Amino acid sequence: MEKTYNWAILGAGHIANKFAEGLKILPNARRYAIAARSLERAEVFRQNHGFEKAYGSYEEMVKDPNIDAVYISTTNNLHFEHTLLCLEAGKAVLCEKPFASNLAQVEKMIATAREKNVFLMEALWSRFLPSMIQFKQEVENESIGKPSLLQCDFGYISPFSPHSRLYDPALGGGSVPDIGIYPIFVAMYLFGYPTEIKVSSIPSPTGTDWTTAILFKHSGGEISMLSSSFAAVLSNESRLYGSNGQLKLHKMFHMITRLTVSRNNEQETEIPTPSAGNGYNYEAAEVMTCLDKGLVESPGMSWQFSLDLIKLIDTVSALAAKAK
Ligand SMILES: NC(=O)c1ccc[n+]([C@@H]2O[C@H](COP(=O)([O-])OP(=O)(O)OC[C@H]3O[C@@H](n4cnc5c(N)ncnc54)[C@H](OP(=O)(O)O)[C@@H]3O)[C@@H](O)[C@H]2O)c1
Repeated sequence: MEKTYNWAILGAGHIANKFAEGLKILPNARRYAIAARSLERAEVFRQNHGFEKAYGSYEEMVKDPNIDAVYISTTNNLHFEHTLLCLEAGKAVLCEKPFASNLAQVEKMIATAREKNVFLMEALWSRFLPSMIQFKQEVENESIGKPSLLQCDFGYISPFSPHSRLYDPALGGGSVPDIGIYPIFVAMYLFGYPTEIKVSSIPSPTGTDWTTAILFKHSGGEISMLSSSFAAVLSNESRLYGSNGQLKLHKMFHMITRLTVSRNNEQETEIPTPSAGNGYNYEAAEVMTCLDKGLVESPGMSWQFSLDLIKLIDTVSALAAKAK
């Protein structure tokens, strides 16, 4: 019989609500515990999403022996500390993107997971969405011939506020680590770690990157033109041009979305990518599939991929800071 997993959520913010919704369609996921810095906030979340237990402290929650897996949804600067807290307590971890604040932290997180023999995965949900998986499949099937150019951007207007998590350097703010990570992920997912990196960037008043443009060259001869911004609404699409046509993940490319192909300048035709749920269910399902198999690492979102991704974000962020 399929095992049921007791899920816990650490941090009761915006995305935690979406993840809790995602869990609802998974028959092997029990909505078990929620922890927030205040018990009142955790209790409201518990009632809204039908969890069994509410905790007013993260430290207290991870001591609960019934918890199988913890989804970490705190601000970017806290992922490292909270991942270690859970791994030390022997809980499987699914931690929001960016995995941590820098490469050294991700290395330490992975070393701890390895030492404790506990599951750890970065919650880059887009990786497990049917539309994203099919996008890559089409590339591998050469459905648009040889790919040459990827254009992918993610931008929306977030009014400047020095204490918002998007602008406060202490909370891990910046468009690159927060949303630029998605175009960077797509480029790496399709073509691997780049061989050349160029960056131009405009800083926000707190010094975090506001709008950043990135150019990658890849070993297969492909170019990625990527951008992220909190100062402008961008296309929020992922378009790949090849020798025989164009593939497009429509707006919002990082969510469950439409995938189309157009060959030889003909009209776009839809490539079906059936899906269920709000999308966050797929990453949770991946965790449980891995746990069923006794794995500590997901083959779909491997530790090496997460190491490469944070290394690339560190490099792009450093070049963005220099470009100011
Ligand atoms: N996968 C996606 O689609 C997606 C989308 C948006 C964001 N994210 C990621 O999810 C994470 C959370 O983003 P969010 O939009 O949910 O943010 P949010 O609504 O501001 O929630 C952040 C959570 O962090 C906790 N926290 C702990 N210490 C904090 C402190 N000193 N200051 C502020 N918050 C603190 C809070 O938990 P308490 O409830 O305990 O107070 C709060 O619930 C980020 O890492 C972000 O990159 C992912």
